[in-house]
Amino acid sequence: MCGIFGYVNCGICRERRHILQVLFNGLRRLEYRGYDSAGISIDDCLPPSSSATSSTSFSTSRSPLVFRQEGNIESLVKSVYEDVAAMELNLEESFSDHAGIAHTRWATHGEPATRNSHPQTSGAENEFLVVHNGVITNYEVLKETLVRHGFTFESETDTEVIPKLAKFIFDKAHEAEGDQPVTFSQVVLEVMKHLEGACALIFKSKHYPNELIACKRGSPLLLGVKELNEDASNESTLNDSKFLSKNGQPKEFFLSSDANAIVEHTKKVLVIEDNEVLHIKDGGVSILKFDNARGIHGAAPSRPSSVQRALSILEMEVEQINKGNYEHYMQKEIHEQPESLTTTMRGRLIRGGSSKAKSVLLGGLKDHLKTIRRSRRIVFIGCGTSYNAALASRPIMEELSGVPVTMEVASDLLDRQGPIYREDTAIFVSQSGETADTLNALEYASENGALCVGITNTVGSAIARRTVCGVHINAGAEIGVASTKAYTSQIVVMAMLALAIGGDTMSTQARREAIIDGLFDLPNKVREVLKLDAEMKELAELLIAEQSLLVFGRGYNYATALEGALKVKEVALMHSEGILAGEMKHGPLALVDENLPIVVIATRDACFSKQQSVIQQLHARKGRLIVMCSKGDAASVCPGNSCRVIEVPIVEDCLQPVINIVPLQLLAYHLTVLRGYNVDQPRNLAKSVTTE
Ligand code: UD1
Ligand code: GLU
Ligand code: MG
Repeated sequence: MCGIFGYVNCGICRERRHILQVLFNGLRRLEYRGYDSAGISIDDCLPPSSSATSSTSFSTSRSPLVFRQEGNIESLVKSVYEDVAAMELNLEESFSDHAGIAHTRWATHGEPATRNSHPQTSGAENEFLVVHNGVITNYEVLKETLVRHGFTFESETDTEVIPKLAKFIFDKAHEAEGDQPVTFSQVVLEVMKHLEGACALIFKSKHYPNELIACKRGSPLLLGVKELNEDASNESTLNDSKFLSKNGQPKEFFLSSDANAIVEHTKKVLVIEDNEVLHIKDGGVSILKFDNARGIHGAAPSRPSSVQRALSILEMEVEQINKGNYEHYMQKEIHEQPESLTTTMRGRLIRGGSSKAKSVLLGGLKDHLKTIRRSRRIVFIGCGTSYNAALASRPIMEELSGVPVTMEVASDLLDRQGPIYREDTAIFVSQSGETADTLNALEYASENGALCVGITNTVGSAIARRTVCGVHINAGAEIGVASTKAYTSQIVVMAMLALAIGGDTMSTQARREAIIDGLFDLPNKVREVLKLDAEMKELAELLIAEQSLLVFGRGYNYATALEGALKVKEVALMHSEGILAGEMKHGPLALVDENLPIVVIATRDACFSKQQSVIQQLHARKGRLIVMCSKGDAASVCPGNSCRVIEVPIVEDCLQPVINIVPLQLLAYHLTVLRGYNVDQPRNLAKSVTTE
């Protein structure tokens, strides 16, 4: 959930001030992931005997130094500069080689507090320091063992066992081997053997100055490499063998849990794989891969093997991650939807012509369509917004594929160990591609032999890698924690998926062509609906003090009701429920009075007349109605002009959810700003939910 960042400069002088700035900026780029505390470690150059000024937020031991702070990054920055001044450390002091690490923490074990922030340490001397993303599930047994060996623990985190275990292993190796030095990667390989659970880790050690070790299992971690003497256009020099052996050149290395924090330095990256231990030393990188033997009492694992990997080039642009002219990422991402949808569809819609039919081409699926068509069932699996996007696409998938389609919330499927068969096609939907519950469900479905298909926004993500095939939604980086543009792109991808699966059926040809025409025109229609911005702000002003908001939808727009309510809930921190209108009389009607605001989605589709009747019934109970209808329908949907109306452009019924969600995204956004809450990092939420 949190962010980890590392920076190594090798053979190039960098002032302490610069090193601090790189680390802080790295953390700022990761800020959107949600966090409650932050910390860094850099080197001290004081002689081992001199003692530093005492403070609660940094350790007083010899190098490396650790600074930690509960709260936001800016309060860490402030306290670091204060502490550095109090210690009389020179910010201009230059290091030709240096390794620094940084962390934003999302507490899972132990309250947000300075002592629980990372880096976590092996003890007073900071012999080993660790920043950690994820959860160590067997930390209790490790802790017991370490306590028996005389270690004392200062935090409530699961993480603290890791640096202490490293010290334990390091000391043991020294006792056994005498002066024979054990390498940093040997120590970490041994540590990793004992850890269970998900993690991304960076190790820094007093015993191995200017070196870092990065490794991971489950959580994402990337390495960026910048060669300072190299002609930037000369990418071919960076093939893997040179990369692994070319020492002596000035280089900078960046480690991060997200490409966002790397792109501003370099586009040359390597996605670290599970169970790889990556060692940065003397300007070189070596990667060892090991088979995991679980548990401290586990059997001896096989020997680690050395791995050769190539760097890939990130396509992400730096300006893509800036806010541009917008005040918040969520606002920018809502308004970016005409462009993001265009990118999602680029190269995938075939316009057709006199001899050729209009069709859809999904490169990642073309070899698997036959198998999908033959499957007995399609199962959509996701969480939160991604689940809602799949729900919005379910009717068109059923209609065009002719295959029964069922929905699963990932965690619930696992709780029930619900039946998944070899004849099933399981479609996993996740923006980040790292969602822990969805990943676990993927593992489960793979074990059961289903054909696993991924729909994700993140190339190289765990879901993209572990599915047999899939489609990248190509919506661009989404920074706001509340998903907006990824939602609409997911729906479009799943509509295209339905078109591709049903692409061999003559009887639905006209219907498919109409949808393809609708897709071509969709960005324009989204541009049109975005003009409601001012109107939605006005509506937000009216609703600012409400306790609760209901959203009624059905058919294609049941998902819109759920997703609209989810947006209001997660960012505006207002209670909100999406309700299937067909269920109204089975409970929700009891809530209706003249105070509670209710949004009813009643755009033109097969459910329109039923929704008209819902409006009548709510009106009869003096409901405070806000009706979303198709352009031109205001008078007919609104009995006696008694309600507020949101008129939206009409599109092909299965694409209408893409249009209808936009005003609700805008409403949630404005409500949040007006209510004074944090739009991009809502309370208690994180962008990629990498823990269960
Ligand atoms: C691919 C290229 C794109 C290029 C286009 C040209 C990539 C990532 N995309 O796009 O840059 O312009 O060809 O034809 O190189 N996959 C999964 N699971 C997932 C998502 C995807 O296994 O969750 C697989 C797909 O099956 C496919 C590959 O990843 O093999 C790339 O998928 P996608 O980017 O959707 O393919 P194209 O649209 O063809
Ligand atoms: N489990 C660790 C802790 O609670 C790390 C959590 C995180 O990913 O930030 O400190
Ligand atoms: Mg794959």
